[in-house]
Amino acid sequence: MLKIEKLSKTYDTVSTPILSALDLVVESGQSVSIQGASGCGKSTLLSLIAGFDSPTSGSIAINDYCLRPVKDPAHEIDNNKSASLQSKYVDEFRKNELGIVFQSYNLFDCFNAWDNIAFTARLKGNYNKHYQTELMQQLNILQLAKKPISQLSGGEQQRCAIARALVHKPSLVLADEPTGNLDEATSQAVSDILFDVCRKMNTTLLVVTHSADVALKADNPLWLHAGKLFTDKALTTPWSHSP
Ligand SMILES: Nc1ncnc2c1ncn2[C@@H]1O[C@H](COP(=O)(O)OP(=O)(O)O)[C@@H](O)[C@H]1O
Ligand SMILES: [Mg+2]
Repeated sequence: MLKIEKLSKTYDTVSTPILSALDLVVESGQSVSIQGASGCGKSTLLSLIAGFDSPTSGSIAINDYCLRPVKDPAHEIDNNKSASLQSKYVDEFRKNELGIVFQSYNLFDCFNAWDNIAFTARLKGNYNKHYQTELMQQLNILQLAKKPISQLSGGEQQRCAIARALVHKPSLVLADEPTGNLDEATSQAVSDILFDVCRKMNTTLLVVTHSADVALKADNPLWLHAGKLFTDKALTTPWSHSP
């Protein structure tokens, strides 16, 4: 289960908050899609959930893990943990619980496709050749297993990134525009696999997307606007279109 409470994020360089007292609860195995204008804070939200950045205030709980601001007066014990302990905690959380499809893939150039995908499972200690083969077959990338990443197209790399986010059976998958580089037909097929695998594995899924079709595959399609999440695009429009 993912539970976000009163999450706010203000970057030092900008005075207005990017996220403002944002709340979100997603039950295990449920999916949420997030749409919103460029620059509204979608990637920021995912990077806070992934523990890459610390919120200004509020909390994010994922199963037994809870991520809070680095300096939070309400939780002195957490603040007293040394910086290295805190980063170990976040590393453990990421290794065990999280699958991430980065907007820019972030695959390793020095590994072939197979080893890139196997990376998260080897790190977690649940590498399973048969499961990886099955996933790569579903995503139609098994034939690319031995190819260096630099020889793959953007769409092929995107599918490798999706496989890598799923192969270690995480409890939460964060996908930042996971079909942004795919043609319409492949986007439909690949997003179906992403949603299906997560449903089958009882994995919670958060997808940021610009595709209305992909967004509607989620149990709970949401819109991010002015730092908060809305269930309806119309509610995010601050003016009415009266004739
Ligand atoms: N590290 C940062 N420092 C300052 N501003 C940032 C940083 N990262 C993102 N921003 C700003 O925060 C806003 C939201 O960015 P982002 O979350 O990437 O938007 P989206 O993913 O919705 O397009 C943008 O205005 C962006 O310029
Ligand atoms: Mg983004």
